[in-house]
Amino acid sequence: MTTVHDPPTGDLTARRFQRMRPFGGERPPAVDATGLPPGPRWPVLAQSVALVRFRHRFVPAMWRRYGDVFTLRIVPGGRPLVLFTRPEHAKEIFAGDPAVFHAGKGNAILGPIMGEHSLLLQDGREHQRARALLMPAFNGQALRGYRGLVEEVTREQVGRWRRGEEFRSLDRMNALTLEVILRVVFGITDEHRLARLRPCVNRTVDISPAVLLGWGYPFLQRFGPWKRTVDNAYRLDELIYAEIRERRTAADLDARTDVLSTLIRAGRDGDEGDRLTDEELRDQLVTLLLAGHETTASALAWALHELGRDRAQLHRAREAARAGDDAYLEAVLKESMRLHPVIPMVVRTLMQPATVGGIDLPAGATVGPSILVAHARADNHPHPERFDPTRFVGHHPPVNTWIPFGGGVRRCIGAGFSLMEGVVVLREVLAEYDVTAAGADGPKVRNITSVPRRGSRIRVS
Ligand code: HEM
Repeated sequence: MTTVHDPPTGDLTARRFQRMRPFGGERPPAVDATGLPPGPRWPVLAQSVALVRFRHRFVPAMWRRYGDVFTLRIVPGGRPLVLFTRPEHAKEIFAGDPAVFHAGKGNAILGPIMGEHSLLLQDGREHQRARALLMPAFNGQALRGYRGLVEEVTREQVGRWRRGEEFRSLDRMNALTLEVILRVVFGITDEHRLARLRPCVNRTVDISPAVLLGWGYPFLQRFGPWKRTVDNAYRLDELIYAEIRERRTAADLDARTDVLSTLIRAGRDGDEGDRLTDEELRDQLVTLLLAGHETTASALAWALHELGRDRAQLHRAREAARAGDDAYLEAVLKESMRLHPVIPMVVRTLMQPATVGGIDLPAGATVGPSILVAHARADNHPHPERFDPTRFVGHHPPVNTWIPFGGGVRRCIGAGFSLMEGVVVLREVLAEYDVTAAGADGPKVRNITSVPRRGSRIRVS
């Protein structure tokens, strides 16, 4: 319920758009790029487009051409991005001092959507505080509490599939994971409000790279796709702020297990510093909504694609589903994430000079392990082109060779959640249906994530 003290929600949205500038805020230091590892000499724009649009071919090709460490130059201003591909380098980067290895800078482009308080965008003390506040909502006990809800949503949706039909599994998985995240994060069950939220969230996820890159030019917000994005952001915020304000005074707040209620309670019962403002809550909720929805859907669609094109693999996985062998289903999911990384790399911007893999790197350089290459190296994963879940049965690949969730203090906060959700979905689908892949598929870039180009079409029977 809005009180006289709360600014109108539209003002909060406007303030975000005014304040947020991609690549803005605390700028990384200017870079002295002499002596960096080798890399292509193409124009900066060509390298940036290749990295964003064609990364599945471009990054491995650069690795083959230049070796285990190479430098790309990207917008804005040709700043260097030094990519590392060996596990010992990933270890050094993940363990780097968070005061020096900033992760938030690399995500600044998401600012207008996620908001400046977003866990993904913060660094230093603010990041530590937000992470500590959000963690309890993703620990083992909390995850066990969400499982029943995930099962309920999955059965509800998978139960509607018709035997013999063919469809894009990515779309179905997206609808499913969106529903899960809306209920787990917001705890919304009111069908009317859910119906208004769904299209707004979908439009937010649908933002094209051109719109993201255009944030640097605020005048664009009056035109075409940029205007539609801004209008949608106002609508989404209005719904989210209404939910936050109602929840603060909800009679059943203490009994609720969703993330929003957990955060509000922590602020009410904890120290002054634990209280998140409406804006902070909004930013974290939108972050979880966007980071936790299409990523898991893409991993699941790939898993169904791989199982659907190999009868023996499918048979083994269906047996596991019927026997309740969740460990095997988790191995299927992990192997799908290895073979088809949803996020291609993890980045950190150096606030001071640092050394990685014996290479001295200047302040301002962005560094990161390439997940794509780490997962495709034969010395990390023998016969890397093969889909083989047994890599993850009873043992685990060597440390830092399987890094779909990044690592260190910035490791994906939803990793456990997405594995739990993925296993539940695979179990429900495979216990019920035989799955056949309808044709070949390959990766394509959708904003930040990689998804199956043809949506991983499958037939169920
Ligand atoms: C297959 C599913 C997922 C993949 C592949 C994935 C991948 C990643 C990666 C690579 C990072 C960056 C880690 C780093 O910088 O070291 C990340 C961060 C993050 N992810 Fe995920 N993610 C997934 C699911 C989720 C889910 C389900 C949620 C929430 C419900 C979530 C929320 C976040 C958040 C909030 C961060 C920022 C963490 C921080 O900076 O402290 N992700 N994720």
